[in-house]
Amino acid sequence: MRLIILEDADVVAEWAARFVVQRVTQFAPGPDRRFVLGLPTGGTPLGMYRRLIDFHKQGLISFKYVTTFNMDEYVGLPRDHPESYHYYMWNEFFRHVDIPPEHAHVLDGNAPDLPAECQRFEDLIQEAGGVHLFIGGIGPDGHIAFNEPGSSLVSRTRVKTLAYDTLEANKRFFGNDINKVPRQALTVGVGTVLDAKEVMILITGGHKALALAKAVEEGVNHMWTVSAFQQHAQTLFVCDEAATLEL
Ligand code: F6R
Repeated sequence: MRLIILEDADVVAEWAARFVVQRVTQFAPGPDRRFVLGLPTGGTPLGMYRRLIDFHKQGLISFKYVTTFNMDEYVGLPRDHPESYHYYMWNEFFRHVDIPPEHAHVLDGNAPDLPAECQRFEDLIQEAGGVHLFIGGIGPDGHIAFNEPGSSLVSRTRVKTLAYDTLEANKRFFGNDINKVPRQALTVGVGTVLDAKEVMILITGGHKALALAKAVEEGVNHMWTVSAFQQHAQTLFVCDEAATLEL
């Protein structure tokens, strides 16, 4: 595990985007050799996506031979709902780059059989040969993807009921009405992300300072699920100074 402390959220976004460019170009993907990237949604990675789009337009990176797997999706939200993670990913990233749609995987929160959908996703990751770089964000309660406090640290992709803190944190996207936030989500497990060859977790803002301290300075604890990544040799925590206030 490495901790990279940068000045502010903008510098974190730039650093993270350059890291992705470096990893993808170094791998030199091609038709028989795709780079597999795990991706988050949320406010934190938006700056990184914007820079990746710029870098793509400047010819610094192509996603033609990149396969992506998103961390999570709400259950029961229509795909074209502005708060669905499908909508977010297409709007904020995929439609601006050259990734073939069939290689951009987002869990289907409207699948008739949700556990089967979760298994399908795990199988697809296996078929792709595993994730080279999983990028994640965390909540103020230390959740990664929708692995809420108390989640198993060996969990796989599954249906998860969201914690009250997550509903509270996400209500800002639903007209500040907690009752409009879906109660369940499909999420990759902690174990799914731990299987990636490399993990980069982006953490910005003073409201995440306690979570970062729990993640890197205390023991591994399933009440702070991100702390599991202390034991992943190739994990980078990339944070801004505001997030380090409790270190
Ligand atoms: C996103 C995800 C979550 C978020 C976390 C932080 O796919 O799985 O772990 O990364 O809730 O969200 P923001 O970045 O909005 O603070």
